[in-house]
Amino acid sequence: MGQTKMELIHLIYTSATTDPDLTKEALDEILEQSRANNSKLDVTGILLFDMGAFFQVLEGDSDTVESLYRRIEADERHKNVVKLISEPIEERSFGEWSMGYPKVTHAELEEIPGLNDFFACGHSFIELEDGRAKILLKAFKGGQWRL
Ligand SMILES: Cc1cc2nc3c(=O)[nH]c(=O)nc-3n(C[C@H](O)[C@H](O)[C@H](O)COP(=O)(O)O)c2cc1C
Repeated sequence: MGQTKMELIHLIYTSATTDPDLTKEALDEILEQSRANNSKLDVTGILLFDMGAFFQVLEGDSDTVESLYRRIEADERHKNVVKLISEPIEERSFGEWSMGYPKVTHAELEEIPGLNDFFACGHSFIELEDGRAKILLKAFKGGQWRL
């Protein structure tokens, strides 16, 4: 009997909202949908939203995460969806969150060591590259926003 090999990965992407007036209700709908689906799929992660841009970390089985990403990528609520990182991980960083939404202000992003210059210069998530994406992930993994 063949065994299905599970490979734990994280996938990180950024995108831009297509709705310049994205409401709290619209954001809550995305989070509700995400949490309902992700808990069935054993996918965990976080979603950040700042200055019209999304940053999302998805963790789970590689096939599951990649196919979920293709579904998310096609969602018309955002555009310019750019995959920054997709790689195997030893363990999850956000294991208890089917989709965490740490409420972070732009001013707080400017305080993150290693990212302060970047956000202070008015950049948004869509201009991140993989090095800074990892700094951001680490900040949320161990940071004050986990409470
Ligand atoms: C920024 C953003 C992030 C999303 N994240 C997720 C997610 O983590 N999990 C998920 O299932 N759907 C996510 N979605 C929604 C999917 O694109 C899609 O609408 C949803 O999975 C379909 O759910 P349904 O099967 O309940 O219709 C996201 C959408 C956007 C715009």
